[in-house]
Amino acid sequence: MQQYISCDAHVQKFQHIFGGAPDFITAAPGRVNLIGEHTDYNDGYVFPIAIDKYVHIAVRPREDRRVALQASDVDERYEFSIPTFSDRRVLPLPISAPAWSKYLVGVATLLQRSGKPLVGMDALITGDVPIGAGLSSSAALTVSAALAFLTASGLEMDRKELATLCQRVEHEFIGVKCGIMDQTISLFGRADHGLFLDCRSLEHTHVPLNLGEHVIVICNTKVKRELAASEYNKRRAECEKGVGILKRWLSDISSLRDVDLAGFKKYEGELPELTLKRCRYVLEENARVRQAVDALKAGDLPAFGNLMNASHRGLRDDYEVSCKELDLLTDIAREVTGVLGTRMTGAGFGGCTITLAHRDAVEPLRTRVMTEYPQRIGIEPELYLCSVGDGAKVYC
Ligand code: GLA
Repeated sequence: MQQYISCDAHVQKFQHIFGGAPDFITAAPGRVNLIGEHTDYNDGYVFPIAIDKYVHIAVRPREDRRVALQASDVDERYEFSIPTFSDRRVLPLPISAPAWSKYLVGVATLLQRSGKPLVGMDALITGDVPIGAGLSSSAALTVSAALAFLTASGLEMDRKELATLCQRVEHEFIGVKCGIMDQTISLFGRADHGLFLDCRSLEHTHVPLNLGEHVIVICNTKVKRELAASEYNKRRAECEKGVGILKRWLSDISSLRDVDLAGFKKYEGELPELTLKRCRYVLEENARVRQAVDALKAGDLPAFGNLMNASHRGLRDDYEVSCKELDLLTDIAREVTGVLGTRMTGAGFGGCTITLAHRDAVEPLRTRVMTEYPQRIGIEPELYLCSVGDGAKVYC
């Protein structure tokens, strides 16, 4: 079995719990989005990277339909049976079911419904993607689980289809109407590359992340993202409302992706103030993604950094998904010499910021963040240097 950090410990623990060796291990990464926030569910563009933090699942297929799951890091167990093909109902999980189990039940149900005949499995889950930090631990779990069920059953599925199925798990089993970015980058990420993704067609290109003397620093606010799910769905609805109104004049649009800034300027006065702000942000952010990818290809990192700063301003002032903790981290970062750009990443309302900084700026940044943030917020933040990992894989 190919190695990953603490693979041996994972295998030993599996043996201890399930009394035999796993047949294989799946691994799916979390992500940070470099630019293109809240554009994915508007059929727009995003530019995320896979981080080298993964959800690993050690698996041994079973002869029956039982799925026995153990989550190593929280020491919780859950068992269920793979639903039959004819079972169209989504049975409510028992109250005692751990929150993470919904993702696995969701994956099994949707795979089975899509015509994939699954077998049961014994599975031990572990990972180092920080949970609830806006780094897509849930997409990493869902994707890792999907590969686990498919591989255990000797099946394969096209990765674009798999991304869509994993997205539906969030919609149908978790209640978050998320876009397609997190699942796609988890499946298609490549070490040292960003993924320029068209969220309408899922066409993508891997763009080398040539940062030279610069690095990406992740700062975790450690703030729980309480509002994230409800406010997220509201933002999505607001964008759909904007499209509905603009359609009166721009009849062939089906999402904000189809509206250009000039066309928008012409009719923006017809939109209610809040809808106008939300839609304007999305249109501008879509343009920024393309400019940022061009800047990176041209080696113009200062331009990339400026676009990150502009993205944060839009998220804070127009889209209103930032919070005082994210703003403080970006304010601090912008004052450090050698920082080219900084912004919140992910859905918002907490989670992490990312900062593009010269190597020499990392220690000054760390010192300021680790002193000023706790003084003002009363919480210890976390700071990691981000390295860009590969997308999901199966080790056997
Ligand atoms: C969450 C969602 C993604 C995306 C981002 C915001 O991570 O899961 O689909 O919408 O928020 O860009």
